[in-house]
Amino acid sequence: MRKGILLAGGSGTRLYPITQVVCKQLLPIYDKPMIYYPLCTLMQTGITEILVICTETDLPLFKSLLKNGHQWGIKIEYTIQAKPEGLAQALILAEPFLNGSPSALILGDNLFYGHQLQTTLQAANNMTGATIFGYHVADPQAYGVIEFDQHKRVKSITEKPTTPKSNFAMPGLYFFDNKACQYAKKVSPSARGELEIVDVIIQYLNTEQLNVNILGRGTAWLDTGTPDAIADATQYIAAIEKRQGLKISCPEEVAFSMGLIDQHQLTILANQLIKSSYGQYLLSLINKNFPDEMHQY
Ligand code: TTP
Repeated sequence: MRKGILLAGGSGTRLYPITQVVCKQLLPIYDKPMIYYPLCTLMQTGITEILVICTETDLPLFKSLLKNGHQWGIKIEYTIQAKPEGLAQALILAEPFLNGSPSALILGDNLFYGHQLQTTLQAANNMTGATIFGYHVADPQAYGVIEFDQHKRVKSITEKPTTPKSNFAMPGLYFFDNKACQYAKKVSPSARGELEIVDVIIQYLNTEQLNVNILGRGTAWLDTGTPDAIADATQYIAAIEKRQGLKISCPEEVAFSMGLIDQHQLTILANQLIKSSYGQYLLSLINKNFPDEMHQY
């Protein structure tokens, strides 16, 4: 069974002074903490064992918010990353947790939403080798950029290039088979002193074990690393939630709709939050007889 790694360390320097005392992934995106969004993405993939990687300072806060996951029918463990030495380091830190299992690594400040997303995620879950995604963005310089050849095969992947070879950025969600830890250990620190995830992915590319799945324009991928990005994501989530009367990336709802918790447990969770519209929303889900299409996120 594939296990999840949720990367919630880092220093959040682009958000200073906000993140001088509060960690980025606990900041709100509209009506819930940022970390709920990537957590739900892993849950929608069908992953029920998740390792949260964070700093030592933030560990008690994450534990207090997410607990051991049992309340949502999943299992959450924690590991400390002493210094933000790169995304690939997470794979090394996660080795004992993975214990030979394949993984899905997601960044704690990445948010995915869109039609058929759950189907796309579950398809990636069933692939062998590694699977990354490609997403058309206006500003590829800020990301790992995927270059394609004339047969639409991946030619290169470059981290934050000054002259990007395409507009296709690589979102912060990567599916790996059980070779990822071994590949991560072969990576040397980059010029910015980090173990780059792109250097793990390139090893999959070089051995023809890399799949790339293009997320269409009907899917939203937002990262929330700057004040403007947080404001944009907040407005986006607010607009859709208010229009539909349905919430995006609500772990209680995802757990309930995936059969990880029952009606009784959902009622308990709702009552703990009942003074908020979030708690009332959870209560409203009970006895709601949605058509099957509505269980897609
Ligand atoms: P980044 O946004 O690249 O880095 P950051 O969060 O430290 O922010 P800034 O650039 O403003 O200083 O990180 C993306 C995500 O990955 C984010 O959720 C933090 C996480 N991360 C780690 O957990 N460990 C790391 O070593 C790095 C580099 C990032």
